[in-house]
Amino acid sequence: MAASVPKAAARAVMSRGGKSLLSQQLRPQQLSTILRQVQSSSSLGATTSAINVSPAIFTRSFHQSTARGNAQDQNKPTTIHLLPEFSLKDKVIVVSGGGRGVGLTQAEGLLEAGAIVHVLDRLPTPTADSDFAKVAAKAEKLGTSITYHHIDVRDQAALNEIVGGIADQEGHIDGLIAAAGIQQETPALEYTAEDADKMLGVNVTGVFMTAQAVARQMIKRKHKGSMVLIGSMSGTVANRGLICPAYNASKAAVLQLGRNLAAEWGEHGIRVNTLSPGYIVTSMTAGLFEAFPERKTAWPEANMLKRLSYPEEYRGAAVFLLSDASSFMTGADLRIDGGHCAW
Ligand SMILES: NC(=O)c1ccc[n+]([C@@H]2O[C@H](COP(=O)([O-])OP(=O)(O)OC[C@H]3O[C@@H](n4cnc5c(N)ncnc54)[C@H](O)[C@@H]3O)[C@@H](O)[C@H]2O)c1
Repeated sequence: MAASVPKAAARAVMSRGGKSLLSQQLRPQQLSTILRQVQSSSSLGATTSAINVSPAIFTRSFHQSTARGNAQDQNKPTTIHLLPEFSLKDKVIVVSGGGRGVGLTQAEGLLEAGAIVHVLDRLPTPTADSDFAKVAAKAEKLGTSITYHHIDVRDQAALNEIVGGIADQEGHIDGLIAAAGIQQETPALEYTAEDADKMLGVNVTGVFMTAQAVARQMIKRKHKGSMVLIGSMSGTVANRGLICPAYNASKAAVLQLGRNLAAEWGEHGIRVNTLSPGYIVTSMTAGLFEAFPERKTAWPEANMLKRLSYPEEYRGAAVFLLSDASSFMTGADLRIDGGHCAW
């Protein structure tokens, strides 16, 4: 147990022309170059750094309202009015795959909404200058915390031990984001059984067992909660020009798993929904953009907004799905894909 993402850490597993699998480690400089190139070829002006929201504004907005409309009030500080049901204050949320990418960015959003976060990831313990460490420092300023637990989600015994330890320490668990996942691009005719098993082992069984470990603690403590399983638009459609049959099958399985878990655990007050992103600029896709530069322009063309998305664009959805703002929502899939699947 400890804290983040090592500096040298962008991994993309893929194959070109189906001939061989390429396991690629990108140096941080390479990753930032790719991300910069993708940003400049996209119509979105945002950066990949986390959106900065003033902690003071967030704290105030959930717990204090300000009257307005008369002359006296005009001199008072402006308050942004957010709905209280979006607050995650003191909620304990587990985030698998939260060592980097979408998981870490969503974890940051949960912290800003008031949650206490526990990350499960297989990346080495985060270093002091890592992105995780920056998020941890922000958590401290917000008066909350984020804790790193080193684990491979395929290890069921370790999952139960660590998640049980979190519940013992915090007294309860309120939610889960299951974002740990891998990607591999290989034509169906070339796929090995070993690689297919690995894909399904992480993306399906790993997500399933993570959800199970969390649900066991919720049910044992009679504590209601909410879970978000990260699927993909690739669980609904075959991606044009992206050959990843096992990945897409795994994401379709995540969507169905979400419905089944929702059906079984609804009576315990546990809600389970899936979140299906479109193309996101992260380490997972950066390797593909380096190997296939034409995708930087081709992929944005495939959706209605004509651009790629960024991890920050999934923070709000995470807070919504884990908070009381979505209290009657379960067994559903929230697809956020720039309209890719809606043509
Ligand atoms: N990037 C995209 O375009 C995109 C699109 C749709 C869905 N998704 C999904 O979003 C999720 C996050 O993806 P990302 O783009 O941030 O990728 P990423 O590779 O940056 O992050 C994935 C994280 O999962 C962790 N992980 C992988 N296997 C693990 C294992 N066996 N045990 C523990 N941790 C493990 C990794 O260490 C990493 O921190 C994934 O489920 C992915 O399939 C990504």
